[in-house]
Amino acid sequence: MAARLSQLRITGGVRLRGSIDISGAKNAALPIMSAALLCGETLTLENVPALMDVVTMTRLLEGMGVKASALQSGHLTLNGADIHHPDAPYELVRTMRASILVLGPLLARCGRAKVSLPGGCAIGQRPVDQHLKGLIAMGAQIRVEHGDIHARCTRLKGARIVMDLVTVTGTENLMMAATLADGETVLENAAREPEVLDLARCLQAMGAQIEGAGTDTIRVVGVQHLHAARYAVMPDRIETGTYLVAAAATGGEVLLTGAAPQTLDATLEKLREAGAQIECTDQSIHLKMHGRAKAVSLRTAPYPAFATDMQAQFMALDCVAEGTGVITETIFENRFMHALELQRLGADINIQGHTAVVRGLPRLQGATVMATDLRASASLVVAALVAEGQTTIDRIYHLDRGYESLEKKLTALGATVERIG
Ligand code: EPU
Repeated sequence: MAARLSQLRITGGVRLRGSIDISGAKNAALPIMSAALLCGETLTLENVPALMDVVTMTRLLEGMGVKASALQSGHLTLNGADIHHPDAPYELVRTMRASILVLGPLLARCGRAKVSLPGGCAIGQRPVDQHLKGLIAMGAQIRVEHGDIHARCTRLKGARIVMDLVTVTGTENLMMAATLADGETVLENAAREPEVLDLARCLQAMGAQIEGAGTDTIRVVGVQHLHAARYAVMPDRIETGTYLVAAAATGGEVLLTGAAPQTLDATLEKLREAGAQIECTDQSIHLKMHGRAKAVSLRTAPYPAFATDMQAQFMALDCVAEGTGVITETIFENRFMHALELQRLGADINIQGHTAVVRGLPRLQGATVMATDLRASASLVVAALVAEGQTTIDRIYHLDRGYESLEKKLTALGATVERIG
């Protein structure tokens, strides 16, 4: 409860400078953790970020019978030998939509699952019809009653599934389900996000037969059992992008280590367009910003195009850039909540439907603002770092869901940040 009351107070005006390490990816860690349900042996994970969502996923899995132990920082073992309660309750699903990721693995392993239907969300409706459609094509019987998805099957059967739209967790759910199905499953119009590929690599280490992950056609030949494996979660490309944007907005210079630059092409291209000088090695990114950023226009779309999870942060950058940027959101229908909060800092943003026109101003002014979702909160942090005076960000539990050691990392880069309450 205390965490819910916390606020972040940032005094703007400091150019970010220095070096920090990037954490493991939230959106890869969550599906990979649910893969532990597919196997009766131990899954040993490394580079797992210390985040609220990881805690929630651990509690969810433990409730089903998974034995979890976090031995040291970043290290987590999950043993799914005894899954006696294949049930994802509303109290956990409502705090984390990614809980839906247990549905495919539970069905494939236990032949039954009850998962509370995720409700609405701050950024859009986010239905799960594609997850259900795919599982039904694989032979599952599914009914939704009293807010719960009840699913049953004997053994899932391989199928050819053409998804109506590109869905990240939908692809992950079906790919996991297919690993233990009878025969071959082909997922068409699959998501190509690096996190899907990371999950596939972990499943392959567990003995799954998967081809094509990272492309829009994934083929999975089901096996009887998966086995113990050790796997290191990929670096978080959205955390990486967020610090790069923060450095660019403040006219700073940062070195991010333990990163995966090859997963950030669209973000790096936009940062270069904004005037940043960027150099990459295999695992590090160095960004140097000379003077004020130039406004950039962008349109979100599935990977490898520009990520919706980076849209809010770039909007904050455009708010203080030279010129006007036009931002179009095509993935979620309500992902401009941050614009209203950025306006409280003085930003000039005009929203027409799915498009925001952002006129850059020389400066923003500190104020009290409210975090509405994870990436919206990240954009408020970026804006607060450049605003004159103090900005207080309320409801920062959203940030704790997805940014490991945020204050510590910002402080290491020279920012003036404190958590209150
Ligand atoms: N959609 C449907 N039906 C479905 C599934 C999705 O209509 O059955 C729609 C959604 O409503 C949305 C679009 O398809 O309009 C894409 O949604 P997707 O399913 O790809 O999103 P997700 O899997 O629920 C993941 C990330 C999000 C990220 C999106 C898009 C995880 C745990 N979450 O969500 O991350 O924004 O993909 O890239 O991987 C975040 O980290 O802040 C975050 C929201």
